[in-house]
Amino acid sequence: MKLSVSGRTAATGVVALGVTSVMLLTGGSIAGAAPAPVVAAAPDIPVANVKAHLAQLQSIATANGGNRAHGRAGYKASIDYVKAKLDAAGFTTTLQQFTSSGSTGYNLIADWPGGDANQVVMSGSHLDSVTAGPGINDNGSGSAAVLETALAVSRAGYQPAKHLRFAWWGAEERGMVGSRYYVNNLSSANRSKISGYLNFDMIGSPNPGYFVYDDDPAIEKTFKDYFTGLGIATEPETEGDGRSDHAPFKNAGVPVGGLFSGADYIKTAAQAAKWGGTSGQAFDRCYHSACDTSSNIDSTALDHNSDAVAHAVWELSS
Ligand code: TRP
Ligand code: CA
Ligand code: ZN
Repeated sequence: MKLSVSGRTAATGVVALGVTSVMLLTGGSIAGAAPAPVVAAAPDIPVANVKAHLAQLQSIATANGGNRAHGRAGYKASIDYVKAKLDAAGFTTTLQQFTSSGSTGYNLIADWPGGDANQVVMSGSHLDSVTAGPGINDNGSGSAAVLETALAVSRAGYQPAKHLRFAWWGAEERGMVGSRYYVNNLSSANRSKISGYLNFDMIGSPNPGYFVYDDDPAIEKTFKDYFTGLGIATEPETEGDGRSDHAPFKNAGVPVGGLFSGADYIKTAAQAAKWGGTSGQAFDRCYHSACDTSSNIDSTALDHNSDAVAHAVWELSS
């Protein structure tokens, strides 16, 4: 099964419209006949909002022994924070409980009412940290970007053709326990309704790279085109297979994709030449450490990646 991206290409968009419409959409001039954008564009995601979520997750960790790990108070407090925001924004939220290593774990699922229930575009991120630290880049960053994208859907009153679902996974750091539990407990009918799953795990690394999961071609192209438009080079992420919550979906035959700004691998000189930052150092020197705090974030990478999340959610669901 392939995720079909919007068929409203430049050509069909222009052909479908009369001259008047083209003039309206292009600001009154048909000179150059630039393709008229017919699909609603994703809004810019304010990185200040994403960082405000990260500040809250940092406070939650600080107030709960310095982490937000599975089975610890900081994890449930993180879930409560995200759920309250989504409930207030009009999402239908479901808390899914599971047990792992003798502790209760939680996945939070948020459905945006409307859209074709037989074509679900799902985006997710793990909300748990390791016990060693607050987990702000890993994975407050993905969690906050997905949250702010969901809130942007609500603010825009976006009514896409497909159904939107968002997820925050528990116990990823114990081996993708929450996401695997979710996939294993889906009926095969409901599994086949998921057109695509987009995963965001570490997207604000302090010495960032721009990696796009090398998986479903349509999803990958959606991300790559976005970064090309920003003039930012990307590299394919292949090592991630099996290393985050997209793995259970991929194993179940769901098309997957996602973004990653790097963990404990070392940035090469060639990578520093195209992305800036420091060669010979890890993308994230605080990976799985106590120093993965609010200061362990590159705001520019977080901003671009958050905007890319929204772009993909809009484009793939329209
Ligand atoms: N999932 C890993 C974690 O949470 C992070 C990670 C390392 C990763 N390499 C990756 C995620 C590649 C996606 C792709 O610790
Ligand atoms: Ca932005
Ligand atoms: Zn991790």
